[in-house]
Amino acid sequence: MKGQCLYSVKDGFAILEVDNPPVNPLSEGVRVGIVDCLEKAQADSNIHGIILTGKGRSFIAGADISEFGKPPNEEIPTIHAVLEKLESSEKPVVAAINGSALGGGLETALCCNYRVSSSKGFVGLPEVNLGLLPGAGGTQRLPRIIGPSEALKMMLTGKHVPAKKAEEMGIIDKITDADVIEESIKFLHDKKNDPLPKVRDLNSKLNDVSGDEKVIVEARALAAKIRKGQFAPNKIIQCVDAAINADSFDEGMKKEQEFFIECLLNPQREAMIHIFFSERAASKIQDVPKETEIMPIKKAAIIGSGTMGGGIAMCFANAGIPVHIIDQDENNLERGVAVIKDNYDFMMNKGRIDENQKDAVMGLITSGLEYDEIADADIVIEAVYENLDLKKEIFKKLDEVVKKDAILASNTSGLDIDALAKVTNRPEMVVGTHFFSPANIMRLLEVVRAEKTSDQVLATIMSVGKKLKKAPVVSLNAPGFIGNRMLFGYTTQANKLLLEGALPHQIDSALENFGMSMGPFRMMDLVGLDLGWRARKLSKTNPPVTALINDALCEQDRFGQKTNKGFYNYKEGSRAPHPAPENEKLYEKVSEDNGYKRREISDTEIVDRCILALVNEGAKILQEGVSQRSGDMDVVYINGYGFPIWRGGPMQYANMEGLEKVSNKIDEFAKNDPDFWSKAEIIEQLSKENGRFGEAPTKEERKEKLSFNQTSVAKNF
Ligand SMILES: NC(=O)c1ccc[n+]([C@@H]2O[C@H](COP(=O)([O-])OP(=O)(O)OC[C@H]3O[C@@H](n4cnc5c(N)ncnc54)[C@H](O)[C@@H]3O)[C@@H](O)[C@H]2O)c1
Repeated sequence: MKGQCLYSVKDGFAILEVDNPPVNPLSEGVRVGIVDCLEKAQADSNIHGIILTGKGRSFIAGADISEFGKPPNEEIPTIHAVLEKLESSEKPVVAAINGSALGGGLETALCCNYRVSSSKGFVGLPEVNLGLLPGAGGTQRLPRIIGPSEALKMMLTGKHVPAKKAEEMGIIDKITDADVIEESIKFLHDKKNDPLPKVRDLNSKLNDVSGDEKVIVEARALAAKIRKGQFAPNKIIQCVDAAINADSFDEGMKKEQEFFIECLLNPQREAMIHIFFSERAASKIQDVPKETEIMPIKKAAIIGSGTMGGGIAMCFANAGIPVHIIDQDENNLERGVAVIKDNYDFMMNKGRIDENQKDAVMGLITSGLEYDEIADADIVIEAVYENLDLKKEIFKKLDEVVKKDAILASNTSGLDIDALAKVTNRPEMVVGTHFFSPANIMRLLEVVRAEKTSDQVLATIMSVGKKLKKAPVVSLNAPGFIGNRMLFGYTTQANKLLLEGALPHQIDSALENFGMSMGPFRMMDLVGLDLGWRARKLSKTNPPVTALINDALCEQDRFGQKTNKGFYNYKEGSRAPHPAPENEKLYEKVSEDNGYKRREISDTEIVDRCILALVNEGAKILQEGVSQRSGDMDVVYINGYGFPIWRGGPMQYANMEGLEKVSNKIDEFAKNDPDFWSKAEIIEQLSKENGRFGEAPTKEERKEKLSFNQTSVAKNF
């Protein structure tokens, strides 16, 4: 049985210490242990009260996800049974929150009479991130203690609440910088004559809003905004509605159970838990030993103060790491630093940070024009224009100026990292760090492993990525890395569908209804249609057929949002797209000139062709060994490309559709377009074996693949 609960006695109080490293989930052994310890404490007349705490840095992290889906063991008490025992204790119980109290951890604390927390503690009900709702009374108890409106915000966002804020809200009775167990004992002494409070009996905050629909209406609006397409948020709202309107606490609990099971059975839950585990797995590099030493990163430097440089600098400052930005152009530098300041002002005006926090992060960001200023940086990230010769020049200079043991990284979207490594005398210290725009917000970080990048550098970058609150994913140094290579097929299909008769707003709305945060044509308008057009003109290359409409629009000065017209029309100062019927003649002409017969196209065909293009390319990336696992590609698409988290990413979507079906559809599409739809061998193989992506190859197979691809893939640039 996993986990235990330790029992000791201090000054007449029983100390129950949950011990289930690393984060103390409520696994079987913990549940048995808590019940045994409670019984022991109740039976001992010398015990005046009970302190429940966690060993290590976590109080209790929540349910043990690895037990989901396993048949219940009748001998082991359920979480509900444990909590009932805790709540009905005749002796006072304090939750001594020593660290994180998340999910089932907070639900446990809410069943104690009091909550005393270390000032470093934090609480939260993040179940919504796994497609679930707090199913151990959280939806019924939290609204009773902080009111339905605040409780809904906490449960719908899933955000962690630090101890100080939790005390202000009323979740925690007392916070302390001293020993949390000692303070809990003192607290119980102070309360020894008070009747024992129970959260389940507090009804006044519910009565205050009874009959008032406003709370529920506002929660629905919040869920629609931040959790579009997700199943669990609406169920959370229904639970809170039940807390307000049901005849009793127990009635509300029954509803919570019903809705919890609905969430559990919903496919979104499997998809979201897949992402949870995939993010954890993605940060591990299979052939880099776990014990690889991480280099200290105390000072960072950024070259280029443009869109990306500024955002990346903010990430370092937010993580408390001093960062120096240099640019060759004084005006650009001034503008770049001003944009950073504006961003922090905006955050302050929105109440996300206070003035002190703003001053603190701005204090960590310095800037200048000379390379000498960054000689002592531990890591330098280059973010200048996307031009290989320019970047090579910069890497040569960095190699001369910056201390020998510093990491040199490039934020290139797709240039060859080996080519940059080769101009330095420290190729093992060179790596790609591909942030996504806006870099201070987007979670994805593609870490590009070049031929000579050392294990230590890779391990360090993965660790820095986590410190910057990113989701780092490793890609080998191959064209387009992971995300943009997959995107190419997706946008190619969108453009082909346009040539074949679908209109941009139909394609976009089909994909947005599927759950993509933004359709491909809105995205192209946002990025600017002129970028590719200008590049083709400059290099005097003929546009591929899929870019003909794009380029024809540019010839009419329709560059996208920046000129208020592109595939869509935009009103001055607004980003809302309006269909542009005046473009339709042009679409028809380009189609006709290039032998495309326009036809009615269904939304299903649009979704299938665009999404399966992602899947097919993802499968090729996997079989080439450019990516370590199919889950890594899901993490890339969820965190960098607006793929709906509740579908678990493109590869998981294919798994849930079934690979035989996916394979058959690709065969069907290949009849009309065999060049594009060359099927990945791995799809063919898995479809025959009734297999799924994610059945990982062995370590030895991986090693073979990696060494093979390290040399061969890089040559394809
Ligand atoms: N913009 C995006 O959405 C995005 C996303 C991911 C990656 N990238 C990549 O990030 C890099 C930077 O892109 P960006 O959009 O921030 O560019 P940008 O045009 O906004 O900024 C580039 C900055 O680099 C400065 N610069 C140019 N040459 C320099 C030199 N020799 N020394 C110092 N500074 C110099 C320029 O003055 C400018 O301020 C590119 O490689 C790009 O492909 C961009």
